[in-house]
Amino acid sequence: TKTIGILTSGGDCPGLNAAIRGVCRAAYDRYNMSIIGIANGYRGLIDGDARLLRPEDFSGILTRGGTILGTSREKPFKSRNGEYDADVGQDKVEVIKENYKKLNLDCLVVLGGNGTNTTGYLLSQEGLNVIGLPKTIDNDIVGTDMTFGFHSAVSIATEAIDRLHSTAHSHNRVMVIELMGHKAGWLSLYAGVAGGGDIILIPEIPYDIDAIGRHLLKRARDGKSFSIVVVAEGAQSVEEAKMDKKERKKYREKTAKPSIGYRVAREIEAETGMETRVTVLGYLQRGGIPSAWDRVLATTFGTAAAELLARGEYGKMVSLKGNEVGSVDLSEPAGRVKTVPEDHYMIDTARSVGTCLGNE
Ligand code: F6P
Repeated sequence: TKTIGILTSGGDCPGLNAAIRGVCRAAYDRYNMSIIGIANGYRGLIDGDARLLRPEDFSGILTRGGTILGTSREKPFKSRNGEYDADVGQDKVEVIKENYKKLNLDCLVVLGGNGTNTTGYLLSQEGLNVIGLPKTIDNDIVGTDMTFGFHSAVSIATEAIDRLHSTAHSHNRVMVIELMGHKAGWLSLYAGVAGGGDIILIPEIPYDIDAIGRHLLKRARDGKSFSIVVVAEGAQSVEEAKMDKKERKKYREKTAKPSIGYRVAREIEAETGMETRVTVLGYLQRGGIPSAWDRVLATTFGTAAAELLARGEYGKMVSLKGNEVGSVDLSEPAGRVKTVPEDHYMIDTARSVGTCLGNE
């Protein structure tokens, strides 16, 4: 029988425990595998912090938020770029390979986002057997239509927008809400459409403050004296989009204090004179119980991973394409970010209901 190691890495999100349960139930009950739970992502694999999981460990966790295994942002391949870790004393990848052998693993199952799956791919290139599962509230993983965690975050953000609506209306204010999403606009676009945002700013469509001002003033002329502006944390202005990476970083440090939502609010006030308030939703977007859809997706991905394990199909990431659950080579998501394509139907949907995407 096989022995598998399982870890969760990168930012946590709702659905991780449902996915762990999916992998473990199927691997244990169906395929009689032994399962080693590795603590705190790749950090645990470096430190040798791992233990045998028993059925009681993965029972009753379907609905729980966060991850029972713990997580970290450890990226072991960084040590190969000269980032020497005195505690580890040598190349972290070599330590991981040694511990993989010591634990007698036949495969390592990694649940995480872009960084996690990229590390998984690089470890597979080093000769380890790895299977990845796509998790993130950002939905920005190449090779899958959807990641688990995304749907729950969209629901939470939508509820927040709904609550801002009533107070915006009462006070005749412009309410800016800043959402996460890293370098992609998926979360803001979906929650913005679900919550009826009047303006949605995503990194893929650089914004022009004049266009935003025109839209808000027109709304006011039409008798709508309040507005909701959804800002993705990665949103950028037209001017910024033209800058090189270094220049942009400097400009952002100077202007986007304490965060981009505040900059947009200041720009709106200066442009329109309208009273503006900011809400940065932050980690609430990642906390708490998974939505029903995420439980289903995470469970499906988990059991699909167990099927790959049973067949010995390694070097893959489980994925959803259309209505089909399958897998892609780990090289597909590695080192890439899935942003919202220009011609995505949601962009058109938003515009069709009168939402301004910041550029016209
Ligand atoms: O990838 C998930 C995410 O929540 C992003 O949306 C956000 O940019 C980032 O993680 C925050 O990172 P951290 O948890 O390290 O603060």
